[in-house]
Amino acid sequence: MTMLQLTSQQLSRIKAETLIIPVCEDQILFRSGPLAEMARKLAGIETFAGRAGDTLVRYQPADLHIERIAFVGLGTAGELTPEGLRQAAGRGIRGAWHARPGNAVIAVPDARLPEGMDRRQAFEALAEGAALSNHTFADYNSETKTVPLKSIRMLAAAKEVRAWRPLLTRIEEICRGTMLARDWVNLPSNAKSPAALAALIARSARKAGISTLTMDTRQLRRHKMGALLAVGSGSRQSPRLLILDYKPPRSRKTLALVGKGVTFDAGGLNLKPTGSIEMMKIDMAGAAAVGAAVITAARLGLPKRIIGVLPLAENMVSGTAFRPGDIVRSYSGQTIEIGNTDAEGRLILADALAYAVKRYKPAFIIDLATLTGACVVALGESIAGLFCEHEGLREKILQSSQDTHERCWTLPMPDDYRDLLKSEVADMRNIGPGRWGGAIVAALFLARFVGDTPWAHIDIAGPAYTRKAQPYSEAGGTGFGMRLLCHLMDNL
Ligand code: BES
Ligand code: MN
Ligand code: ZN
Repeated sequence: MTMLQLTSQQLSRIKAETLIIPVCEDQILFRSGPLAEMARKLAGIETFAGRAGDTLVRYQPADLHIERIAFVGLGTAGELTPEGLRQAAGRGIRGAWHARPGNAVIAVPDARLPEGMDRRQAFEALAEGAALSNHTFADYNSETKTVPLKSIRMLAAAKEVRAWRPLLTRIEEICRGTMLARDWVNLPSNAKSPAALAALIARSARKAGISTLTMDTRQLRRHKMGALLAVGSGSRQSPRLLILDYKPPRSRKTLALVGKGVTFDAGGLNLKPTGSIEMMKIDMAGAAAVGAAVITAARLGLPKRIIGVLPLAENMVSGTAFRPGDIVRSYSGQTIEIGNTDAEGRLILADALAYAVKRYKPAFIIDLATLTGACVVALGESIAGLFCEHEGLREKILQSSQDTHERCWTLPMPDDYRDLLKSEVADMRNIGPGRWGGAIVAALFLARFVGDTPWAHIDIAGPAYTRKAQPYSEAGGTGFGMRLLCHLMDNL
């Protein structure tokens, strides 16, 4: 893990490979001293205006023990946002990587910042962007070209260094949790059978002081989890239900988090075609984000009981696979006619949600799932769909979404659409009659398994994964939802 540090050393005494200095187009972010002077000198450089995304690199600056300075552009001061700072820090850090584990210093602005942002927020955003970007999934690359930094120092005034130190630990843990989630998503499916993934997540959880329980096929049968068992029935790798129970002393409220954990979604007998099947190792990103969030809550000592319920299954094709037309009895007792074996996420969530509600009676229940392609059609690859009829919970999620820039957009759950799930032969079908409104239909299906418990469903099929590297996330799993959940757990 990256060591984030805070330092108030004089610039002239700092030894570092890369010094990262954030700059605006139209305002100097440093009050006085050498940083302000360097930023002022930039004004004379025609080819670098400090636009967002631009970087200017200077090598071996005079009078400093620093190999290179990276000025990272933020755009105009009026446009400055925490997300702009996260991204700029991420670009600066990624630019500082080389063949061996190096180091960097990030100068935290000390001048008055534009309306709506204080220095503490700017510090937090820079540190977070830096730590989130300083990670790579290299388990399978025999030859690595550049590697993450081994240390990142945040340079600020002595008074602020003292005040911000507790915050640094939190930022580090949140980034560490995000890396856990990303690594799990990036693992190929041949290395994360439901049993293996359950063991992997449970091991991290126990290290953080969380009690874990893994149900195997026998226990799932005993608990009559017919929907989860049906989805897992086509694979040689049998399904699991992993339960994480973080129970700090004197906790009163219980919060339940549920994450879809399909370790590979071939579609089942409704097999996915070429073009849709390739990335389906990411179909457990909800479980990854939830698992990492419970672990992070424990590491941070959150004073609330958090239950993580992770249904894990591989959706495959075989002689033992469940079929279209099958009718399964879910844990809740409700029967489900299988219209399409590729609508498997909602099936495993149905059992997990019903179990969480019955067993733990949580004050709130939230599920994260790479549930529908329709949600990606509606909102694109960077925004999750939020379904929540409970106004208080919805507003808190939207606030966390804004503060973490893990973007969510509310989609409706209209009553009259419920009819789309009607079945002639069972209590419901797992798909609607057509393809329109697929994300909504899926959410309405889940709603039948949570009773009156205040509940939110977040469809992360788009943002769970990125095809191209982002400023603070390399190509692959993004860990989307992990930071949002951590922020939210504090406020619920
Ligand atoms: N795992 C997929 C959803 C998905 C699609 C995730 C693209 C990430 C990227 C889900 O299990 C699925 O197959 N959904 C079907 C539902 C349909 C059969 C009703 C879909 O979206 O096509
Ligand atoms: Mn599917
Ligand atoms: Zn799926």
